[in-house]
Amino acid sequence: MRIAITGTTGYIGARLQHYMQRTHEITSITRRGDKGLPSFDLCQPSTLQQTLQHLDVDIIIHTAAIARRQQCTANPEAAYVANVEATKVIAEWARQRGIRLIFLSSLGIHEDNIYADTKRLAEQAIEDSGAMNTTIRLAYTFGFSPSFSNPKPMQRLEHEAHFPGSISFDDSWHFQPTSLEHVCHVIQATVRNSKPPQEVNVVTIEATTMFEIASACLPHQIQACKDLKMKYVPGCLPVNIGELPWPDYILSLPLYGF
Ligand SMILES: NC(=O)c1ccc[n+]([C@@H]2O[C@H](COP(=O)([O-])OP(=O)(O)OC[C@H]3O[C@@H](n4cnc5c(N)ncnc54)[C@H](OP(=O)(O)O)[C@@H]3O)[C@@H](O)[C@H]2O)c1
Repeated sequence: MRIAITGTTGYIGARLQHYMQRTHEITSITRRGDKGLPSFDLCQPSTLQQTLQHLDVDIIIHTAAIARRQQCTANPEAAYVANVEATKVIAEWARQRGIRLIFLSSLGIHEDNIYADTKRLAEQAIEDSGAMNTTIRLAYTFGFSPSFSNPKPMQRLEHEAHFPGSISFDDSWHFQPTSLEHVCHVIQATVRNSKPPQEVNVVTIEATTMFEIASACLPHQIQACKDLKMKYVPGCLPVNIGELPWPDYILSLPLYGF
């Protein structure tokens, strides 16, 4: 298949590109432009049109977004343009050209914050466009990616692996994590399925805490705390915690509809 992926400089897009290029012809779409493609700025609709008209693909996977809650709250107008208006342009283009659209959304779409609003409105815009689409909804996602340019929960594990005892992990908030590896498997299954479901939630069945995840992944004693605010740490060099045992709940994948 010929597949375009937006946001390949990001955490999920970079891992997905790496995974999908083994079996598909991938065109990577970035903000700065790549491999002869014009730049692609979600906040500048004219650059979107220009890049899209250069594409000759069967499927587009739209991962690019202003994906940080704090950034959306700080600049709601930009968040709306980038996450909703740009998605509308892509969906309309996909419908006109008969191209399948796979869209990355969030399981938190009904929460009360600007990021959630924009993801919910983007889902609605895709549905209204009539494009053939699958929406993949994720929760907090863990796993290795070539990109760590933006702060992610995974970085806290990496930082703690480098500097044991430097971080306390919250043991009060229970959530259902998503595995980045599973996101790639689900998207691959979606691409291969001629009649994929319209919505797929990629999330573990079991709820857990940051403390439980850190305790299961790292070899040393982890400090617990009651801190509902996620504190991020700046990017650091990946360490080889991939060989450490990931807990079963991170790897138990419900593949609804496949
Ligand atoms: N990670 C999670 O836990 C999680 C959970 C639920 C849903 N999601 C969804 O999954 C998708 C990917 O998330 P992620 O964690 O990979 O996010 P990320 O690491 O922040 O990456 C975002 C990507 O979007 C691009 N982007 C941002 N603003 C742009 C703009 N104005 N024009 C063009 N490109 C722009 C970034 O490009 P630059 O590198 O140039 O900034 C980057 O490639 C998002 O749609 C997000 O809502 C993620």
